[in-house]
Amino acid sequence: MLPRVILHNAVSLDGRIEGFPLDMQQYYELASTWKEDATLAGSQTFLKAAVEAPPEDESAFLPIQADSEDRRPLLVIPDSRGRIRTWHYLRSLPYWRGFVALCSRSTPQEYLHYLEHRHIDCIIAGGEHVDLRAALEEICSRYGVKVVRVDAGGTLNGLLLRQGLVDEISLLIYPSLVGGETQSSIFRAPDLPLPAGPSWQAPEGVISLHLIDAQRLKGDVMWLRYEVRH
Ligand SMILES: NC(=O)c1ccc[n+]([C@@H]2O[C@H](COP(=O)([O-])OP(=O)(O)OC[C@H]3O[C@@H](n4cnc5c(N)ncnc54)[C@H](OP(=O)(O)O)[C@@H]3O)[C@@H](O)[C@H]2O)c1
Repeated sequence: MLPRVILHNAVSLDGRIEGFPLDMQQYYELASTWKEDATLAGSQTFLKAAVEAPPEDESAFLPIQADSEDRRPLLVIPDSRGRIRTWHYLRSLPYWRGFVALCSRSTPQEYLHYLEHRHIDCIIAGGEHVDLRAALEEICSRYGVKVVRVDAGGTLNGLLLRQGLVDEISLLIYPSLVGGETQSSIFRAPDLPLPAGPSWQAPEGVISLHLIDAQRLKGDVMWLRYEVRH
């Protein structure tokens, strides 16, 4: 079984996900809307934040205490290349009750040992990269996860969208225009093939959405929520 998957992103009016002032408090207050069982986040964010991590100490090797009353989500990160070495720091933050690294058959063995010694759970799905569908199924069956909120950039979002794994899209649209030529958007994926017919015809593969809520928030931010039509 697959969990319900929600993408929650803050964007500028021209669809950029970076390069404009963001109200992080508002973003994370609204992120609690879905009371997710797991947060699926991209590794790039944590690799960037690695500079904030203190060096590891012996607490990194202690088992993580499971508490059935703990309602905080699991933090799940695809990391097939075994690049995240700051789990000890993530463990010290108050946001998550447990941690799962998504790896693949190409993940270096040394990294799998690294995770094991630090009691970080690991799901191996896929060959070169993580097979996201299989990983989501495993998260659901292993941990009983029913709702996943995705906190990611365009690459991970794009993979999930193109594989039909997303159920809802929540966008905080900021009154900012960023511009620029580098691609930073909520949905990065290979171009769709152009339709053979007239140019106004949508190509095969365009994702159709249904608006479920629209609110104007503090700071002229618009909060739009869409259901993905499967
Ligand atoms: N404005 C917003 O709302 C918002 C929210 C979140 C993040 N961001 C920004 O977005 C930027 C990037 O975000 P991000 O860290 O989420 O990274 P991302 O660039 O969207 O995605 C990277 C993740 O996708 C995985 N991935 C890449 N190719 C894959 C494939 N073929 N199959 C399966 N998985 C694959 C990577 O795993 P591997 O390492 O295994 O390749 C990695 O975990 C950051 O700078 C962050 O600040 C903005």
